[in-house]
Amino acid sequence: MNVLFHALLCKSLLLLLLLQNGTPVMSLTIKNSSRCNLYQGSWVYDESYPLYDAAKCPHIRREFDCLKYGRPDKDYLKYRWQPTFCNVPRFDGEEFLKMWSGKMIMFVGDSLSLNQWQSLLCILHAAVPDVVTSSSSSGRNPISSLTYKGYNVTVMYYRAPYLVDIINEKIGRVLKLDSMQAGNQWLQANLLIFNTWHWWLRSGQYQPWDFIQDGNKILKDMNRTVAFSKALTTWAKWVNSSVNPNTTKVFFQGVSPSHFHANEWGKSFNKSCYGETEPVKGPRYPGGPVPQENTIKDILKTISKPVSLLDITYLSQLRKDAHPSSYNGIHLRLDCSHWCVPGLPDIWNQLMYTALKLNGF
Ligand SMILES: *[C@@H]1O[C@H](CO)[C@@H](O)[C@H](O)[C@H]1NC(C)=O
Ligand SMILES: *[C@@H]1O[C@H](CO)[C@@H](O)[C@H](O)[C@H]1NC(C)=O
Ligand SMILES: *[C@@H]1O[C@H](CO)[C@@H](O)[C@H](O)[C@H]1NC(C)=O
Ligand SMILES: *[C@@H]1O[C@H](CO)[C@@H](O)[C@H](O)[C@H]1NC(C)=O
Ligand SMILES: *[C@@H]1O[C@H](CO)[C@@H](O)[C@H](O)[C@H]1NC(C)=O
Ligand SMILES: *[C@@H]1O[C@H](CO)[C@@H](O)[C@H](O)[C@H]1NC(C)=O
Repeated sequence: MNVLFHALLCKSLLLLLLLQNGTPVMSLTIKNSSRCNLYQGSWVYDESYPLYDAAKCPHIRREFDCLKYGRPDKDYLKYRWQPTFCNVPRFDGEEFLKMWSGKMIMFVGDSLSLNQWQSLLCILHAAVPDVVTSSSSSGRNPISSLTYKGYNVTVMYYRAPYLVDIINEKIGRVLKLDSMQAGNQWLQANLLIFNTWHWWLRSGQYQPWDFIQDGNKILKDMNRTVAFSKALTTWAKWVNSSVNPNTTKVFFQGVSPSHFHANEWGKSFNKSCYGETEPVKGPRYPGGPVPQENTIKDILKTISKPVSLLDITYLSQLRKDAHPSSYNGIHLRLDCSHWCVPGLPDIWNQLMYTALKLNGF
């Protein structure tokens, strides 16, 4: 699917260039369209970043509000992602709201989805600060949403850390690898952005299930990479059979990397993301790729409907500097898995925005 998507992307680039007769309507320039891959490139220091003022965004949760909680260095806010063979346009929030008027956008997954959802809300707020919004969220409800009234656009976060279900049964809480009941609620959205991985590694007190069900087998535990792959296959079959591509566009957000051990970038194992103030240079991440990326790519290929991989893994691996570390409002532990807002998730949204534009959606 990813290959097909890139082929489509390049075709639309050519079309845009032809249609516009040399006058670029959108600020997107192509160095070599046959090689344009949004996710291959490098980080460039850019004074014009970040995309918005954190203090003015009313949506940032304390987990991600690094500036409010005293992060002293600011360079991490100043990096722009530069693909090698094409450019990323600036996010035009008002145009985005017009494009999605009368529609619903939904991020589904764990707190990395929440992270990207918050960033999108801040980007949109900066573009249309005065538009009337209404929000809803409640304790046990997995949905948090914000509606931009004038545009009638709703942007939601649906919390589903495993995508598949956890059901309370007599024996205890059962993680069901082949059941995804919440899916019916996701189908109302016109843009769906999924993610799951981080919770698959949880155990002990952080694991919210007692048993795992794989087909007819009830197990106490199993290989987590294998379990993840089975759940993702359940999801893939659901997309394949239930999503209507005429009304709904689907992205899968690739694995978001953590930086708890600095040996991945040539320092000592006991050091973490704390105190890191600049990206890894590239063009490779010394710690190597995240193995689950390939699992995701392989499973996406089995889906015959259009699904785009928001392939953020490599570019995020380079951003050891972009985590909250201890500058967050929960103080539970050093956070080297989420990302500061503003910061890296703004770039994820920018790339999604670009992919949508290029795909003519
Ligand atoms: C664009 O990339 C293709 C494939 O790598 C290459 O064959 C071609 O020469 C490049 N064109 C330019 C103008 O650089
Ligand atoms: C607003 O958008 C929703 C879909 O998100 C649609 O059902 C509804 O009819 C729209 N309302 C107006 C007034 O356009
Ligand atoms: C889990 O399965 C994966 C994929 O088959 C394998 O590479 C890995 O070694 C297994 N892990 C353990 C702890 O057995
Ligand atoms: C997706 O659907 C196509 C045809 O509708 C089928 O051939 C393919 O096996 C399905 N893939 C999955 C993963 O269900
Ligand atoms: C999608 O649109 C095409 C062309 O209008 C139509 O033939 C097809 O039945 C539609 N598919 C669904 C699932 O509505
Ligand atoms: C790293 O941390 C472990 C566990 O806290 C400790 O035993 C070890 O001595 C530390 N190593 C270094 C090089 O500081």
